[in-house]
Amino acid sequence: MATFRLFFLLSLASIISPSFSRSLPQSTTPTPTQNQSLAATLPAPNPGPIESNARNYTKVCDRVRFADMGLDMDDFIYCDTSLPYEVRVEDLVGRMTLAEKVAQLGDRASGVGRIGLANYRWWSEALHGVSDVGHGTYFGDIVPGATSFPTPILTAASFNESLWLSIGQVTSTEARAMYNLGHSGLTFWSPNINLVRDPRWGRALETPGEDPFMAGRYSVNFVRGMQDVEGSEVAKDMNSRPLKTSACCKHYAAYDVDNWFFHERYSFDARVTEQDMVETFVRPFEMCVREGDASSIMCSYNLVNGIPVCADARLMSQTIRNDWQFNGYIVSDCDSVAVMVENVKWLRLDLDCGYPKDPYYETYTLSAVAQGKVRESDIDNALKNLYMVLMRVGFFDSSPAYESLGGKDVCTNGNIELATDAARQGIVLLKNNLTLPLDAKKLGLVALVGPHVQTTKTMIGNYAGVPCRYTSPFDAITREVKVNYKHGCSNVACSSQDGIILAVKAAKTANATIIIAGLDLGVEAESLDRSNLLLPGFQTKLINDVADASKGPVVLVILSGGGVDISFAQNHPKIGAIIWAGYPGEEGGQAISDVIFGHYNPGGRLPLTWYKNDYVDVIPMISMKLRPIDELGYPGRTYKFFNGTVLYPFGYGLSYTTFEYSKLNHETSSITINVNSTRYCKPLSMKPNATAPPCPAVDINSSSCDEEITFDVEVANTGNMDGSEVVQVYSKPPPEVADAPLKQLVAFQRVFVQAKGKSKLSFSLDACKALALVEKTAYVVVPSGKSTIVIGNGDGEISFPVDVKLQV
Ligand SMILES: *[C@@H]1O[C@H](CO)[C@@H](O)[C@H](O)[C@H]1NC(C)=O
Ligand SMILES: *[C@@H]1O[C@H](CO)[C@@H](O)[C@H](O)[C@H]1NC(C)=O
Ligand SMILES: *[C@@H]1O[C@H](CO)[C@@H](O)[C@H](O)[C@H]1NC(C)=O
Ligand SMILES: *[C@@H]1O[C@H](CO)[C@@H](O)[C@H](O)[C@H]1NC(C)=O
Ligand SMILES: *[C@@H]1O[C@H](CO)[C@@H](O)[C@H](O)[C@H]1NC(C)=O
Ligand SMILES: *[C@@H]1O[C@H](CO)[C@@H](O)[C@H](O)[C@H]1NC(C)=O
Ligand SMILES: *[C@@H]1O[C@H](CO)[C@@H](O)[C@H](O)[C@H]1NC(C)=O
Ligand SMILES: *[C@@H]1O[C@H](CO)[C@@H](O)[C@H](O)[C@H]1NC(C)=O
Ligand SMILES: *[C@@H]1O[C@H](CO)[C@@H](O)[C@H](O)[C@H]1NC(C)=O
Repeated sequence: MATFRLFFLLSLASIISPSFSRSLPQSTTPTPTQNQSLAATLPAPNPGPIESNARNYTKVCDRVRFADMGLDMDDFIYCDTSLPYEVRVEDLVGRMTLAEKVAQLGDRASGVGRIGLANYRWWSEALHGVSDVGHGTYFGDIVPGATSFPTPILTAASFNESLWLSIGQVTSTEARAMYNLGHSGLTFWSPNINLVRDPRWGRALETPGEDPFMAGRYSVNFVRGMQDVEGSEVAKDMNSRPLKTSACCKHYAAYDVDNWFFHERYSFDARVTEQDMVETFVRPFEMCVREGDASSIMCSYNLVNGIPVCADARLMSQTIRNDWQFNGYIVSDCDSVAVMVENVKWLRLDLDCGYPKDPYYETYTLSAVAQGKVRESDIDNALKNLYMVLMRVGFFDSSPAYESLGGKDVCTNGNIELATDAARQGIVLLKNNLTLPLDAKKLGLVALVGPHVQTTKTMIGNYAGVPCRYTSPFDAITREVKVNYKHGCSNVACSSQDGIILAVKAAKTANATIIIAGLDLGVEAESLDRSNLLLPGFQTKLINDVADASKGPVVLVILSGGGVDISFAQNHPKIGAIIWAGYPGEEGGQAISDVIFGHYNPGGRLPLTWYKNDYVDVIPMISMKLRPIDELGYPGRTYKFFNGTVLYPFGYGLSYTTFEYSKLNHETSSITINVNSTRYCKPLSMKPNATAPPCPAVDINSSSCDEEITFDVEVANTGNMDGSEVVQVYSKPPPEVADAPLKQLVAFQRVFVQAKGKSKLSFSLDACKALALVEKTAYVVVPSGKSTIVIGNGDGEISFPVDVKLQV
């Protein structure tokens, strides 16, 4: 339970501190009552700079600062930069009294003036650019705003790892600049890498989608962009590796129900099989820690199989710290601790102690320690984990590489251009019946219709900050063509059809119609899951009526995080094109316009399945299993297990040009794995008519597995326009294996190819990872027999078998 105590104590202060009474929002994900809007529950903007910065010091260990406080820095070993961080942290923690220690465990750590330690606000957010959600970061006066990138669901759709990395790098640069100006912390509770298991989840917009491998790769790149100091990506002692800023993988784990028909995240007990845990829910977190070297993890509100995640010693200390060798601090969403405290049986805590009438940390903790409920050494360990991260991120010492950053480095033209490009790269062309791109010069008047035409704030979704500026679709499209704008519905709810007549009239008299519709945070958000997948209110009627009346081409643009069942538009003969633009960030309108008018050839691919609406009638959101449950008639979840008809599959997206793949000879067609001992042979679920060989599968953890699958693919652009193609590589298990994924993504590359040009891509897959299956037993195994490698997704895909022989 050691780790449990560690983060419990980190949050303990939050529960009992006067400034953290439960009526105030406390967590990254505040506690709205059933019906309260999220905005109303977010914390007020940070009231001002932190103490050390207020006086224009950018580090704790500043000789002048100590002198100002009447102290001599030489008396404090923790400021001796010649010593290892561990020694310095040991010294720092050793100087504190128990009461002083406890005062550092909340997200607003008070500091200890007596020993020169500054206060620190742990909670900052940077989901898609520096945000002012939390207590660590604020905008105003000298830093009015920061670059606001598209929400992650759209950025993920680019399938471009270097873009994900660049966004992390630019965000952390802006964060360091703001830190230097006293406007930001250095520890960011981003990214959100929970998987979109169910299409109704309100937080899909915050995530990289439904696939564990892709979410893992997204997290690795974003975290490295946020954290890595050039030249220190690897270090002898990873626990003291310098950090640019600290990122946090959240919310661990199996969290993806917010508020669905009275199932609330705070009390939701996710019943999860170990197989799904290993295969799906935990995998992105493992990649985020092992490959991304994230310096923080946040545990989630929910329970898993009856135990609150934050109190589960196996999930927390054993998995994260022991198995994954995590270097960093674990933070709980504060309320999840409150939930546990109320549920006494998990904590074995005395509630009477938990809520003292006069809540001073000192009184409480001293009594808790006196009663043997909390060990002081656990508090020490928690503080050491925390201060190690603050040492690494340069809170105590200067970070020369970043010292010169300031206001000039925030919202630069280059950063704003990256935000625009991220939106362009993510936008997905869903339908194009010889309609796009539109030729602005030949069009004449365009009718511009829909609740999102003049959208601004909706484009930056949630966990946003103040953007540098906005370019709405209206702003950008009116630079290209003459428009007649009639919204049709003044907002997304579209609860009245009164405006439709004017919109129809506009469509009738124009040569083309662009409709910009979709969802917003009033439909899908934190604490707000959807009950269906349809457009709200009269939006469908608006779109149909306007399309019916239009004499020229009709283009429909959908803004949303999750998928929307727009079958009606897919089949509407007059709706010539459909574009999905996620929530495209501050420059979203520019990106949409660039795609519509052909200044950019779209290459984004859906990072989640777009189901038809009837999907939600056949499976309750709270059923966590990924595989179909035949007895209950539940279909499977995500492209890996749902075999029914979808509106648009995972990985789907069109282009203005055409691509063809051809395999170049060198592919690996068979591999032999030497299995040293039969004890590494594991059972395999087989279809009824198949019999398993003597060694059906090998445990990949048996270290006998270092084969590679290599192949080259040539991508030819056979059309007339330059463009980018996302090459997706999937593996399919041998046909005789039962209960396995239909296929699973194992690699992807986005490549730019000039019209009529070709490009060669080389892939080298770790065979044991690429072909691995997670068995019912939760063993990760490679099955013997013929697996298949598939290059592409649907039309034009090519494939080859890889025969796995297990030699015992
Ligand atoms: C929820 O909000 C609606 C609309 O604002 C209101 O009519 C309703 O009374 C609210 N319900 C609760 C439980 O607050
Ligand atoms: C901090 O620096 C800024 C800019 O150099 C200056 O305007 C401000 O007065 C300084 N504040 C203090 C408390 O020294
Ligand atoms: C529609 O397009 C035609 C041909 O390009 C043009 O002559 C006409 O003026 C346009 N009409 C409007 C309303 O813009
Ligand atoms: C594509 O356009 C043609 C010609 O306008 C139309 O007949 C057809 O129904 C359209 N197809 C779809 C799927 O909208
Ligand atoms: C799809 O999965 C269901 C549930 O396991 C199964 O009953 C059905 O036969 C499958 N359909 C196809 C076409 O494979
Ligand atoms: C994998 O093997 C290592 C050492 O051989 C062991 O410590 C670890 O627990 C194993 N993991 C699993 C999931 O079996
Ligand atoms: C299997 O044998 C090889 C070669 O003898 C050895 O290097 C490897 O460590 C062995 N693996 C296990 C899991 O025993
Ligand atoms: C036997 O299994 C194979 C796949 O391994 C399948 O294609 C075939 O249809 C099955 N035959 C019967 C009779 O179930
Ligand atoms: C991937 O993103 C990077 C960074 O924004 C960009 O330079 C590159 O062109 C993108 N690649 C493709 C193929 O679009």
